[in-house]
Amino acid sequence: MEDVPEYRPVHRETRFDADLARYAARAKGMVASEIRALFSVANRPEVVSLAGGAPNISGLPLDVVGSLLNELVGERGTVAMQYGSAQGDPALREQITDVMSLVGIDASPDDVVVTVGSQQALDLVTRIFCDPGDVVICEAPSYVGALGVFASYQCDVVHVAMDDHGLIPEHLDSALASVAASGRRAKFLYTIPSHHNPMGVSLSLERRAQVLEICRRHDVLVIEDDPYGLLGFDGEPYRALRADDPARVVYLGSFSKTFAPGFRVGWALAPHAIRDKLVLAQESATLCPPTFSQHAVGTYLANHDWRGQIKAFREMYRERRDAMLASLADLMPATTTWTKPNGGFYVWVTLPEGIDAKAMSPRAITARVAYVPGTAFYADGFGSQSMRLSYCFPSPERIREGIRRLAAVVEQEMDLRDTFGPLHLGRGRGVESPGPDLR
Ligand SMILES: Cc1ncc(COP(=O)(O)O)c(C=O)c1O
Repeated sequence: MEDVPEYRPVHRETRFDADLARYAARAKGMVASEIRALFSVANRPEVVSLAGGAPNISGLPLDVVGSLLNELVGERGTVAMQYGSAQGDPALREQITDVMSLVGIDASPDDVVVTVGSQQALDLVTRIFCDPGDVVICEAPSYVGALGVFASYQCDVVHVAMDDHGLIPEHLDSALASVAASGRRAKFLYTIPSHHNPMGVSLSLERRAQVLEICRRHDVLVIEDDPYGLLGFDGEPYRALRADDPARVVYLGSFSKTFAPGFRVGWALAPHAIRDKLVLAQESATLCPPTFSQHAVGTYLANHDWRGQIKAFREMYRERRDAMLASLADLMPATTTWTKPNGGFYVWVTLPEGIDAKAMSPRAITARVAYVPGTAFYADGFGSQSMRLSYCFPSPERIREGIRRLAAVVEQEMDLRDTFGPLHLGRGRGVESPGPDLR
């Protein structure tokens, strides 16, 4: 009889980390969120996910993109699949200046550095400017992916309050003054002025001028992150901060929301000296940004009505924003408040007093609706009474169903609060990454 090998289960995965003592200090700032596990169920079809920030690329003409890619490989494959320059393809950099002209920026392709999404631009900017312990000023709340970068470079994040018109200039002024008074210098202000992630609000025109004036006065650099700038629902896009102060502002752009995130093409526009450092940093990080992706994006821009496509995306997101705002108004308990975005992907909801969005999250998942608790967007654990809802991906009907489920969960939570008193979980433990699909 043939020998049957003895069955021995092999445990390939373990949470125990035998290399713990070996990690660099900067790796200790990288923590996965406890809510990451919850979100693995958020992607199940029965759950309405209002958590993810993935663009709804079903609106793209895939047949057109497919034949453009086919042509690209057939006609220029040997160039498109070869190494390229660390700064990025010159033709694409030229096209990027056309895209930026829509937000009022007049720039030379020489000052553009192509990156692997604007996420890599954030990484490179932080790499060239920040030593451990350096202060970075961020909005409160701020983009979770940026907070993750700042944590991994061991930066000290100082948050500045926002309201419905964006960053509050007086608070910025006093934050910069108190950083200086403590003998330190803020390395830069990181801001998302247009259609903010996660708040969904935009910096007013008046405040744009004030923010620039304050940063000039305190001699602080501005990192302007603008992935949603062309996805406004009313009239012309906002004028970028960079358009009014080219020497002080590093502008970050992306094709992720206006075309498709899978190509991972973004860019930084920077003053010459900073650009040179970014190119060297890019060279050490990747040798060159992916040539094929750059050619794919360049071919799309050159051969397709990309402006018309952005218009179509805007209409799609506007319909979803309308569905979310109407559902919130119809269904949420009266003491809940939320922002009214005029572009982008997100609504920021503030729950009734004494309700903790993080504690409520497992119960929401059980009720088959997911969101991102507000604490994910603060480096200091604040934000527990808030949550980010995204309307970019689900259909208007699913959005309404999601809000109906969420409203019922909030009501149950209010009943619990009224019976047992408010829950005091204390502050969170700082920057946690909820997972790549939840940006
Ligand atoms: C504010 C903000 N910045 C940067 C990014 C990163 O975008 P990407 O790397 O896809 O260009 C995102 C993605 O959601 C974002 O919301």
